[in-house]
Amino acid sequence: MEGFSNLCGKVAAVLFIIANVYFPAKQIARRFTVWTKETADFFRVYLVLHGVLNTIAFCALILHGHYAEEHNYVLQASFILTVFLILQGLIMQYKLAPGVQRQMRILHTQQALFFVWVALIIIGHAIA
Ligand code: HEM
Repeated sequence: MEGFSNLCGKVAAVLFIIANVYFPAKQIARRFTVWTKETADFFRVYLVLHGVLNTIAFCALILHGHYAEEHNYVLQASFILTVFLILQGLIMQYKLAPGVQRQMRILHTQQALFFVWVALIIIGHAIA
């Protein structure tokens, strides 16, 4: 099943990248371009894609981790953080917990959290 795990890992990686380029792309557009109605519309559609692709990538990630032969604490930490990000995203997008929408948004959109997530994935795979 190692081959299947690797395939799922590649699918998850590609989908996570496409889904989360949303964040740096929006930062760059805000800083270096004029924020037109077209730009706002583009990022509104991209935000929907961000949610859908991250959720599909997460399913591939579960299979990747389940069938992988090697594990370590850094990869396990990155998985737990991914679960938190996905849950926060789903709660926000579908307003599953109206009382904590604001807190979820603050947590989910932390730049530091995003960079810690990326760092854990890279370091975890480098030492595996
Ligand atoms: C590992 C998975 C995920 C990561 C790393 C991630 C990361 C991020 C980041 C960094 C932002 C901030 C973008 C900005 O400031 O413009 C953001 C925004 C957002 N994400 Fe995610 N996200 C993930 C999964 C999801 C999922 C699964 C959903 C929904 C189903 C989702 C829904 C949203 C929404 C609605 C926003 C906009 C929040 C707002 O500005 O009001 N995210 N995400």
